[in-house]
Amino acid sequence: MSHDTPGPTATAATSQQGDALENLLHENRKFAPSADFAANAVVGAEVYAEADADRPAFWAKQARELLTWNKDFTQALDWSNPPFAKWFVGGQVNAAYNALDRHVENGLGDRVAIYFEGEPGDSRAYTYAELTEEVKKAANAFESLGVAKGDRVAVYLPMIPEAVITLLACARIGAVHSVVFGGFSSDALRSRIEDAQAKLVVTADGTYRRGKPSALKSAVDQALATDGHSVQNVVVVKRNGQDVDWHEGRDHWWADTVEAASAEHTAVGHDSEHPLFILYTSGTTGKPKGILHTTGGFLTQTAYTHKAVFDLHPETDVYWCTADVGWVTGHSYVAYAPLINGATQVMYEGTPDSPHQGRWWEIVQKYKVSILYTAPTAIRTFMKWGRDIPDKYDLSSIRVLGSVGEPINPEAWMWYRDVIGGNKAPIVDTWWQTETGAQMIAPLPGVTETKPGSAQVPLPGIAVDVVDENGASVPNGHGGFLVIREPWPAMLRGIWGDPERFKETYWSRFETMYFAGDGAKKDEDGDIWLLGRVDDVMNISGHRLSTTEIESALVSHPAVAEAAVVGAADETTGQAVVAFVILRGDAVDSGDEIVQDLRNHVGKEIGPIAKPKIVLVVPELPKTRSGKIMRRLLKDVAEGRAVGDATTLADNTVMAQIAASLKK
Ligand code: WTA
Repeated sequence: MSHDTPGPTATAATSQQGDALENLLHENRKFAPSADFAANAVVGAEVYAEADADRPAFWAKQARELLTWNKDFTQALDWSNPPFAKWFVGGQVNAAYNALDRHVENGLGDRVAIYFEGEPGDSRAYTYAELTEEVKKAANAFESLGVAKGDRVAVYLPMIPEAVITLLACARIGAVHSVVFGGFSSDALRSRIEDAQAKLVVTADGTYRRGKPSALKSAVDQALATDGHSVQNVVVVKRNGQDVDWHEGRDHWWADTVEAASAEHTAVGHDSEHPLFILYTSGTTGKPKGILHTTGGFLTQTAYTHKAVFDLHPETDVYWCTADVGWVTGHSYVAYAPLINGATQVMYEGTPDSPHQGRWWEIVQKYKVSILYTAPTAIRTFMKWGRDIPDKYDLSSIRVLGSVGEPINPEAWMWYRDVIGGNKAPIVDTWWQTETGAQMIAPLPGVTETKPGSAQVPLPGIAVDVVDENGASVPNGHGGFLVIREPWPAMLRGIWGDPERFKETYWSRFETMYFAGDGAKKDEDGDIWLLGRVDDVMNISGHRLSTTEIESALVSHPAVAEAAVVGAADETTGQAVVAFVILRGDAVDSGDEIVQDLRNHVGKEIGPIAKPKIVLVVPELPKTRSGKIMRRLLKDVAEGRAVGDATTLADNTVMAQIAASLKK
């Protein structure tokens, strides 16, 4: 194994900081796969050339190898009407059949599909045969509640097997699921239900959070409290038995509908371009965007990347992705790809510190997890808790480590490799987005010499580049904007109900290329380093939040006249929400009280994850002459730096006023 000595400059504290970024690019440690790992890897270096030779043909081959089609497709890609792509044209395929039935038909019915670990310590295992049966029942139950092909189903569930069962049941009958993260408020849930015009909501009475029961159903009740919504039925999983309000006729217990339904259900093929799901994500403007994914391309790329990037050996591996089903990672790499690939996976309901800070490692030891996929924010939290904790457990089963959601700083990368991976498991840092549907940039663990902190190389069949202002490819050693030059199978097919916004958001900055919203650099070897968002989207613990969305929430509070929000570098969460607010003339600055009030208000409007870490009451906000808030300057304040170039401010005394008010 080649292992250079650590570079003296590779000590970036967080990857968001400018000077730290410079350091990143001088990273000179490299870790080649062991000969043994490379020899047994499921894909080798030849895939790059194969994909380059004919991209659509490469993906067509994967589509036919990885999926069982009810009807074969006649064309790999139709890009005659960009940016609206069609993949595997004319093909028909059923996601649930591919994730379940066919494995049972192939004699794998007894293989465990899901090891579920509840937060309180309860556990359940589902074999492929059992999971298939559950999904067939759920499909029948949803149909009996009037859900038909093309209808939307809102899902507001914790990380329990019923979440996966619900998603696959929807896919089976051609209904379009729209998962809303359980940490979002009833207001956020309502607006998403409304935008998608969901007919059915699937939820649970509650879940467990740090040993305590927490409620979910009550938020659904609130979201549906006023008339005029599209929801006809609510199916409720009993998770912790807490009291719930009951709306006769509308509400149905899972046990009475799903469990009581017939386990006979035939999956029919759906068009390759049939909508599979909508997932809302924060953009640069206030309203979250409903990102639309369709069937054939999404399944192909998620399954391929899951196999290639994690070096999946489904007969022997135990895979664990810690993402919640409320985010895209929990869709692509929990609900779909592992099951399509016939893998055995672990699913955990709770937090990493419940009931103790070794919980994750206890789970790894218990199930002999061999592939672990998580986010840098979690890794940094474990670093803070200390290596003594993971060191108490047997983690020797781990052979591949994945990272996703935000740039991983080299320290966290090295710690992950050393403490969790026993200095042998390759780390795959995977860059992708809700919009890309599947991984786009990542090392191949049996091929790539990995570098701490870089996602490095576009996956085979993916055309990623870094370009300057004018869209010209930058040379090695330079930075710019991350773009995707060619359509890819799992790409979003649009924004639900808003084709114009789709074009405008992703295809107008560089007309013929997809603009990802991320800054990136190419190092001297041409490897790609992700540098964070270049727009007003923040990344808090790997979760996307928009500055403007939180600003709108703040100004909807009666005491607030104006608000500006920035994502400030944070050691653990990557970025933290810092809000600057101007109070209304008649509102009193009651110090802690108003701050607490505003934080709670944001929690109610959007969800607890959006609560600002810090709220600063200021007399003015820095604006340009055209009235645009200069968040860059506020970020300097929030990160405790000298304020940068303020020459374009309309009123150049503003920063001094802010500084003076904060001193008080
Ligand atoms: C960021 C999550 C650096 C990036 C799958 C992107 C990353 C946004 C990485 C998408 C990574 C995700 N390195 N940055 N490996 N992975 N990002 O839609 O800014 O929740 O645009 O999808 O997260 O977040 P989303």
